[in-house]
Amino acid sequence: MREKIPIESLTLGMYVDGFDKSWFTTPFLKHKFLVKTTEQIERLKNSGVKTLFIETSKGIKIISGDQDDEINIVEQPQIIDDTPKDAKVKTDFKHYNELKETLFEIDRNVFTKGSKIDFELTRKMGLEIETIAPYEDTEIEIDENIMSAKNELLIRRKDIEKYRKYLEKIFNQRKNDEESINFNSTIVRENSKIAIKEIFDDPRNSHTIDKSSKIVLQILNGILDNSLAVSSLLSVNKFDYYLYTHSVNVCVLSIGIALNLGIKDTAALFQLAMGALLHDIGKSTISSDILNRPTSRLSELELSIFKQHVSESENLLRLFADVPEGVFPAITEHHEKLSGKGYPRGLKENELHISGKIVALVNYYDDLTTERPYKKIVKPYEALSMIQEQSDHYDKRIFSELIKLLGRT
Ligand SMILES: [Fe+2]
Repeated sequence: MREKIPIESLTLGMYVDGFDKSWFTTPFLKHKFLVKTTEQIERLKNSGVKTLFIETSKGIKIISGDQDDEINIVEQPQIIDDTPKDAKVKTDFKHYNELKETLFEIDRNVFTKGSKIDFELTRKMGLEIETIAPYEDTEIEIDENIMSAKNELLIRRKDIEKYRKYLEKIFNQRKNDEESINFNSTIVRENSKIAIKEIFDDPRNSHTIDKSSKIVLQILNGILDNSLAVSSLLSVNKFDYYLYTHSVNVCVLSIGIALNLGIKDTAALFQLAMGALLHDIGKSTISSDILNRPTSRLSELELSIFKQHVSESENLLRLFADVPEGVFPAITEHHEKLSGKGYPRGLKENELHISGKIVALVNYYDDLTTERPYKKIVKPYEALSMIQEQSDHYDKRIFSELIKLLGRT
């Protein structure tokens, strides 16, 4: 259906089907396109477009009112709420996948009541995105409503730097008492997620190793001196942004297990943690279409491409001359199994490095507990019992340390 809407109602995921200016007075070569970035909306506004047409069969439409109330879907342009701050954007899966690229999941626990932010907050409910705190030049004060907002909290990707500055500010004001350990850990985890996102976005960047080292040292030192808590450094993996949380989780759990196993050598701990953090960096080179499907639904060729992420991770890190050799086993062996049935080399128990054995188990556990659209959520205890049934694949001592570690978190 073709609808006329005011420019203020245009949002990501809508399909523009013409507007009120001739093409040569706007910076757009085409007047029919899917809105994929906020920059496109800004450019349209700056070029003086006031009203435009959208084709709702090719993109999302605006709805207002209660999220579950389908009859509130507004089909007539004249009654569209033209204040975007109240807009809920309902998408289908395909459009949501495009929209999510413009968003970044955050943790509401980083906010304290009365603190101020200078970026917009949105939340996700199923496939709906809703702005809950629009930002228009004046700072937003964090109140009860924002702190208790249900569902996943997201920011625009363009605002990540502002969010990072907010985290830095509150981390610098942190208290180092017993009660603040969980809060401080949450800030460190959020900051690590941002750094990992930047690394995955541009893994060949000359700062990749510096950035990774900083995260690893902060997490490792914090766990060693008990100023950070393993439980609050971990996050529940949501499928959309799982690569970032997964990398941090695998790093944190690997350090916890290594310490429980009695590994005290700080260089060995550091190298294990670096490998654990970067084990999946090679996924940044693989198409999201392959990564977003379960391996059971991949063709033979696609599966072999998926498995290449292990060698891609190694290749990417070999680009940097200063990565110690001890970092690599955690990367190259993270899909190997003691039984020899893993990949890429099918190594057996006595051929595997202790770092490889730790990261392989933690990686599998964290993958199992990641929320995915195509399977039911596996709870931690269910994941542990699934691993127990595969005792020939994973190291028993490491497994029992994982149980103890999770039991304490
Ligand atoms: Fe992997």
